[in-house]
Amino acid sequence: MSPESILKDVQMKQGNVIFLTGAGLSTDSGIPTFRGPEGYWTIGSKNYMPTEMATQEMFNRYPEKVWDWYLYRFGVCARAKPNKGHQHIVDFEQKWKDRFVLVSQNIDGLHQEAGNSFERSFYIHGNAAFFRCAASCTKELRILPTEIWYEGKQEMNAATKHQLTCPNCGAWMRPHVLWFDESYDEDYYSFETVLNKTERADLVFLIGTSGATTLPAYVVQYARAAGAYLVEINPNETNFTDVVKEYSKGLVQRGTASELLGEWMNYFSSSKYNL
Ligand code: APR
Repeated sequence: MSPESILKDVQMKQGNVIFLTGAGLSTDSGIPTFRGPEGYWTIGSKNYMPTEMATQEMFNRYPEKVWDWYLYRFGVCARAKPNKGHQHIVDFEQKWKDRFVLVSQNIDGLHQEAGNSFERSFYIHGNAAFFRCAASCTKELRILPTEIWYEGKQEMNAATKHQLTCPNCGAWMRPHVLWFDESYDEDYYSFETVLNKTERADLVFLIGTSGATTLPAYVVQYARAAGAYLVEINPNETNFTDVVKEYSKGLVQRGTASELLGEWMNYFSSSKYNL
């Protein structure tokens, strides 16, 4: 099965074309992947991995330290710029319009910055641009002031702490991200919407994700049930690779997101498949 034959078939249908993206898409923008070696954080004399830091449990114990870690990570995101892979995904939205669905695990804001529309994008692990009351006195998302993001590793000062205090109830605010010891939901993370869209998919790209989280695993399952094509774009093996390889409508492509999405865009733009 070739990209050309997949595109030809998908162009004759009306269903959704889903781009499911993960941290690998942003490596060409200089943001380290989540499960790479760069991610640990030190509190006292102990090193913690992101999977330990990004938890409700850690936030309950060390809210200030967890915020220091996020403000540092958000600062890295703020200096990063969208890369070619992000730009190709914007081009695909322009081509596929209402058939296009972006489901991203990335909180780095690079899809928005590249130009994907808010209406067709679902940030299933949250978004660095927002924060909310940690005590849930309201469900409202507020815009996190970017001037408090860190430029390097540092410790919180009183002014920043004040900005991270809920103006309604005085509790800590928290980043608008899904933590490892929390569950997906519809209100914050569009859980059901994403699955409904996948039930009506003709093609699902799995781009730069190791396949370690639950909703993406459901997306793969639902895509197969829908008879959609599944295309993995990744330089390395992932948890999805075997499933995609064994599936009659699956295609595994080894390479970076920027390169391979560029190739897909070239096929698409060739006159044969252009609408
Ligand atoms: N192009 C495409 N893929 C790449 C590239 C690249 N240039 N560079 C690395 N990758 C791949 C890696 O091979 C790996 O499979 O990106 C993947 C990154 O995997 P993870 O770090 O596990 O990131 P992700 O799958 O997005 O993690 C999912 O888990 O940690 C939580 O909430 C966090 O959103 C994150 C989620």
